[in-house]
Amino acid sequence: MGVTNNGAMDLSLMDEVFEKYKEQRGALIPILQKAQAIYGYLPPEVLKLIADRLGVSIGKVYGVATFYAQFYLERRGKHVLRLCDGTACHVKGTPVLMTAVEEEFNISPGETTDDGQLTVEIIYCMGSCALAPVAVLDNQVMGRIRQEMLLRKVKKQIGAG
Ligand code: FES
Repeated sequence: MGVTNNGAMDLSLMDEVFEKYKEQRGALIPILQKAQAIYGYLPPEVLKLIADRLGVSIGKVYGVATFYAQFYLERRGKHVLRLCDGTACHVKGTPVLMTAVEEEFNISPGETTDDGQLTVEIIYCMGSCALAPVAVLDNQVMGRIRQEMLLRKVKKQIGAG
């Protein structure tokens, strides 16, 4: 996403965004949102470009990007699997699920597969403890999920199963 043939970040994709917001002062947040929609996350070179073009400090841009949970500074996969490791889910087996995911897809929490298909994250209690252990694949909540079913669903979602 947003990458040229030689693998570099295609910063020219931002031209249209700057053009759109050029009359609007203080448009940092919508510009960050558009940038994330283009690249899938906010790479450092894009944050620097935004700071340069808006004439604000890079510190300010980072400050805003890290303050809001909607922004990601790390590359994220096309699909995101969240495993709940709050107390109830932990007791009911999230560590087993995590190990299975790590072994199957070769990634740890917070990481993304090399093909950019899957990011795995840990979350802490999403208020559905009665359904523990809970996993969320993209927007699909899966309660009382077992290892085999979880792996099957993830593989299907990322087109590997
Ligand atoms: S601990 Fe997982 S939903 Fe509450």
